Amino acid sequence: MSGNIIDGRAIATQLIERIGQQVANLSATGQRPPGLAVILVGEDPASQVYVNNKRKACERAGIVSKAFDLPPDTTQHSLLTLIDELNNDACIDGILVQLPLPAHINQELVIERIAPSKDVDGFHPYNMGRLALRMPVLRPCTPKGIMTLLESINASVRGSKATIVGASNIVGRPMSLELLLAGATVTTCHRFTKDLATEVAAADIVVVGAGKPGLVKGEWIKPGAIVIDVGINRLPNGKLVGDVEFEEAQRRASWITPVPGGVGQMTVATLIENTFYAATELHS
Ligand code: GUN
Repeated sequence: MSGNIIDGRAIATQLIERIGQQVANLSATGQRPPGLAVILVGEDPASQVYVNNKRKACERAGIVSKAFDLPPDTTQHSLLTLIDELNNDACIDGILVQLPLPAHINQELVIERIAPSKDVDGFHPYNMGRLALRMPVLRPCTPKGIMTLLESINASVRGSKATIVGASNIVGRPMSLELLLAGATVTTCHRFTKDLATEVAAADIVVVGAGKPGLVKGEWIKPGAIVIDVGINRLPNGKLVGDVEFEEAQRRASWITPVPGGVGQMTVATLIENTFYAATELHS
């Protein structure tokens, strides 16, 4: 078996175009376009790339993005004050604070300050709690985007065994909740997991978001499994790779996401989807 590639770039483009149509329909009926505030604190080069991709995607979909590029020494107080202003701005439907924040700022406090109805990242405890309780409202972008990818290949999630590698607040934990909600039997692996190889080998669906190149060996993959690689790692030679040994994993998998061109684009497209949802379902 040689696994089919899941073309995240193409599926993300379709999603952004579909939202762009719906935004055009809004303006045809005299409604304002959705607005997204994108806040970057500091000068981390990877974060600058991600934030620029998010702003460009807004433009493609006709969403108005308001850029806040703040210096690395921004105080927690001034960031919280900005969020308060944006919470009260009727033209803003979504507030995105790019993570990680500089070490002197309390990330949890900042996330909790965002109005839950404008939390288009889905990181606020309200939105995470709603997902955990099977009543999702705004859902974290990367896991939701992965669910869209699984739908695009008609994956049988209900009744499947899913193994998640990584238990971060951004990827692993909400991914486990999404797959549980969709009826999978979910195992979440993390740094204390004793036998990662056995957990991965048992899975029909493997989602890896650990930030360690080559962590998941291709030979661990169960023949016919679906492999979703969230990792984005730059090797010393400049090459971008995921967390899974791609070639050997592809030989065994039925479907696999490439890096780049897989999950990364879906995170951005799902942010656009969430912003449109906030504008039309939560703020109209
Ligand atoms: N940093 C890495 N991934 C994300 C994401 O999805 N949203 C935000 N805000 N920051 C991130």
